[in-house]
Amino acid sequence: MHAFDPADPGFLADPYPAYAALRAAGPVHDHPGLGVPVAVTHAACSAVLRDRGLGRIWSDAEPAAELAAFNLLHRNSLLEREGEPHTRLRRLVASAFGRGHTERLAPLVRARAGALVDGLVDRIRDGAPADLVELVAAPLPVAVIADLLGVPEDRRAPLREWSDAIVRMYEPDPGDEGRRAAEQASADFTALLRVLVDERRSGRGVPATGGPGPDLITDLLAVRDAGSSSVRLDEDELVGTAVLLLMAGHEATVNVVGNGVHALLRHPDQWRRLLDDPELVGTAVEELIRFDAPLQLFERTAVVDTTVAGHPVPAGSRIATLLGAAGRDPAVFGADADHLDIGRSPNPHLGFGAGVHYCLGAPLARLEIAEVLRALRERLPDAALDGEPVRRPRFVMRGWSELRLTAAVSR
Ligand code: HEM
Repeated sequence: MHAFDPADPGFLADPYPAYAALRAAGPVHDHPGLGVPVAVTHAACSAVLRDRGLGRIWSDAEPAAELAAFNLLHRNSLLEREGEPHTRLRRLVASAFGRGHTERLAPLVRARAGALVDGLVDRIRDGAPADLVELVAAPLPVAVIADLLGVPEDRRAPLREWSDAIVRMYEPDPGDEGRRAAEQASADFTALLRVLVDERRSGRGVPATGGPGPDLITDLLAVRDAGSSSVRLDEDELVGTAVLLLMAGHEATVNVVGNGVHALLRHPDQWRRLLDDPELVGTAVEELIRFDAPLQLFERTAVVDTTVAGHPVPAGSRIATLLGAAGRDPAVFGADADHLDIGRSPNPHLGFGAGVHYCLGAPLARLEIAEVLRALRERLPDAALDGEPVRRPRFVMRGWSELRLTAAVSR
């Protein structure tokens, strides 16, 4: 009776009252529209993410020839693996995204964020519309992750469009056209990665990355070719993992920048606090992810019979964790869970997940978002929304497709 319609524009505009009603009615609910039960409290979502009896199993049960490239990518991506292959693949890429490595990337990210925000501010001073998503939120994480993997500049243009088409498959009803687009994008993405791998293997076309060391494709290829038994990585896994990183490395970050700046400008007291105290940037990043989660829902499949908050999840069946609802749970975040508080601490949000699939890119994402906030507060302190932003009509990947900014005073 509390089920929401994920395609309803009213729900998408503000899903949080519907989540509150669900939480008040219990921790787990059947949801006929989504076709899976959903965990909605922080405790139940956390339990789903940490339960080793619940996995991200890439099922070939419904493979169709028309999704061959899409399935190949997912079957081989570390996010969709469990057990030994997951641990092995995760170890291989974890070192690239550890805190130490991310710290070394900081000057590069700062310079890129500063230059992009400068471009935005220049447009605003010229009196032209300046879309934060187009000019800052999207290009920054795409450039950083493409640098890290070593995708040459002249081959980056389609990355965001391909990624967008592929992640559309995480939405409740991608439709035939959505499936066709995802398959085409998967084939194109795979083809690009195979070319890049071949070029490196033959010693051609290794780009200067601007990163702290050799690019990640080169590193992964070295592992692949060394072929030692404990760390082996086959070529499909290499391609699947590289594509996952290129997508995961920007999809959510783009939306946190958009959702976050929107939330700050809609709460001028909190924007003021950030302007007054740069030390709040770190806690602000966490709060923006909690307040309007860029990834609203993830699914798991039971590998054994299990229960979540008393709700049976038989082996082979699925359950979803509604991270957007967990972030607003008053049982964890108190009576002001629906308020934006950029100094909130502690802030045990589940925006980066939890358990064995906890986000590998969290340090990098935090760095990117923090640098955008720093640049904006310094260079556009009088930022204001210019008209109504345009929402991406998506439920799982929550964000804006256009968020125009202006300067309230200093134009
Ligand atoms: C604010 C931005 C980001 C958010 C909110 C986010 C969120 C998440 C979440 C919730 C998961 C777990 C999914 C699950 O449990 O099913 C995850 C996994 C992952 N994320 Fe992120 N992510 C962000 C940025 C990034 C970046 C920048 C990268 C890479 C550079 C990245 C790479 C990954 C990878 C590789 C995994 C899979 C880990 C595994 O399966 O072991 N993410 N992310």
